[in-house]
Amino acid sequence: MASFNKRTHTCGELRPAAIGVNATLTGWVDSRRDLGGVIFIDLRDRYGKTQVVFNPQTNAEVHALAGSLRSEYVVSVSGLVEKRPAGTANPELATGEIDVMATELVVLNKAETPPFPIDDSIETNEDLRLKYRYLDLRRPVLQNNIVLRHKLYQVIHRYFDQNNFIEVETPVLMKSTPEGARDYLVPSRVHHGKFYALPQSPQTYKQILMVAGFDRYVQITKCFRDEDLRADRQPEFTQIDVEMSFVDEEDVQQIAEGLVAQIFRELKGIEIQLPLRRLTYKNAMEHYGSDKPDTRFDMKIVTLNELVQGSGFKVFADNVAKGGVVAGIVVPGAASFTRNQMDNLVDYTKSLGVGGLAYMKWTEKGLESAIEKFLGKELMEKIAAAMGAKKGDLMLFVSDRWTKTYATLGTLRLDMARRLTLIDESKWDLLWVTEFPMFEFSEEEQRYVAMHHPFTSPLLEDVELLDSAPEKARSRAYDMVLNGNELGGGSIRIHDSSLQSRIFGLLGIEKVEAEERFGFLLNAFKYGAPPHGGLAFGLDRIVMLLTGSKSLRDVIAFPKTASAMSLMDEAPSEVEDKQLRELHIRVV
Ligand code: AMO
Repeated sequence: MASFNKRTHTCGELRPAAIGVNATLTGWVDSRRDLGGVIFIDLRDRYGKTQVVFNPQTNAEVHALAGSLRSEYVVSVSGLVEKRPAGTANPELATGEIDVMATELVVLNKAETPPFPIDDSIETNEDLRLKYRYLDLRRPVLQNNIVLRHKLYQVIHRYFDQNNFIEVETPVLMKSTPEGARDYLVPSRVHHGKFYALPQSPQTYKQILMVAGFDRYVQITKCFRDEDLRADRQPEFTQIDVEMSFVDEEDVQQIAEGLVAQIFRELKGIEIQLPLRRLTYKNAMEHYGSDKPDTRFDMKIVTLNELVQGSGFKVFADNVAKGGVVAGIVVPGAASFTRNQMDNLVDYTKSLGVGGLAYMKWTEKGLESAIEKFLGKELMEKIAAAMGAKKGDLMLFVSDRWTKTYATLGTLRLDMARRLTLIDESKWDLLWVTEFPMFEFSEEEQRYVAMHHPFTSPLLEDVELLDSAPEKARSRAYDMVLNGNELGGGSIRIHDSSLQSRIFGLLGIEKVEAEERFGFLLNAFKYGAPPHGGLAFGLDRIVMLLTGSKSLRDVIAFPKTASAMSLMDEAPSEVEDKQLRELHIRVV
């Protein structure tokens, strides 16, 4: 026999239909108010809150005990469900029309005063919240996020099952084959001096599953990357990982879009128009200055090379002659920015890594610019017209190399839109970015690196560029973007071992090294690899965007801080010498 009354209802359940019923609720004391001898508590569990009334006239003993209740005490309360007196109903609460008139109270556990109130509106320092994560997780916002995450798992599993996908678990201890980020390494006790790596993604395994004939694979899986963290990055995060055989881009994209539409339908009640819009990488960069463009607002970038080449402004003209790009954006209504605001904007732009920011205002007096003496009135008017500016607008210009110019303007475009609240936050703006370049040049490593990953296939028509102009070769990679966030990405893979070796070569991965790192994959490809491709979504990011959370930490039960620490259990931590000895490891 239990030592307490078990609940008959949850704290979010009772409605007027239950009036007259004797109910038992269990949960945490959310708040307590003592009003002229009558004690009110809000009792909370993950389903909601119910007001419980302790009246000395109903039961003096229980009322006296209720006087000892404090926040977060765990209790079991029984009593009659009653309609609240006229005028005291609480429309904010689902159970706000009734009270439970307590006749029994069992204190199941006391609680120390929590370091912060269990309340959605708290402004508590996040480190404190993370240290006491179990208290933080009692807050309704976080509970709702975690519940939505659970519902998302169900949609995903149902959707892929209905579409004939098979869920396969892949190892967490694998061979180190660094992809883009740094690996987390795990020393082997048995094999002296050898290490496992935690997967940055199951990329190689899922490709091998295609060789094994599994045809349609899915997995909700943890990935681990030791990289610099931001609000939308965690060192361990979850992917919805997908791979398919005998497919091209369209097939993978169709399955991925279908999933996203299903998620929005079931979890948001929103119908997403399919197919989603496709933008090539080139288009996305040249118009929005980003490979994950936020197209909820316009403010498109306008390229001005034709207008400014050979003009009197040498900075622009010389840059165009060198193969660079001069482009600009119109910031609507921003001609009123003060001198000081403009100086700040120029400094900020320089901090983005370009030489400077030129600008032109269209005020009551007409077009005004510090570079008027170089450009001349006529060209200024042509530029304003080409950009579609009107009176009251501000035009910003950047002149640099292709990537720098567009990326800088892309950042300015977003900043300006935020500053002037031009973004329609009610919109869900989904699109694909396609035809990414195969390679990007890494200044740090002074070599080409794969823009997506080394298994990504080039576009067939660009294969011949691989030797002559690799930087121009486009790949069969695609990203799905939601409101300016990369939700997921993937590609059609190389399934031919000789092309794969050639790509490794271009990436500066020598034959021996390729054999060492990826030999198992190259070998597998020798035994009948089907054409295949796939993608992976960032599941945490999906939950973050669906719940309107500002950080991934608000949608992960036990997240890490920006310095990859878990403040609750204090990982990472030192270990005993004995453990190190067994692993043949010495800390220096
Ligand atoms: P990619 O590296 O683009 O592709 O990752 C896929 C998606 O995972 C999410 N993501 C992250 N989320 C949180 N924290 C991180 N540190 C983090 N890094 C990535 C993003 C991203 O779009 N194997 C390939 C997929 C494939 O080609 O099939 C891969 O991992 O939402």
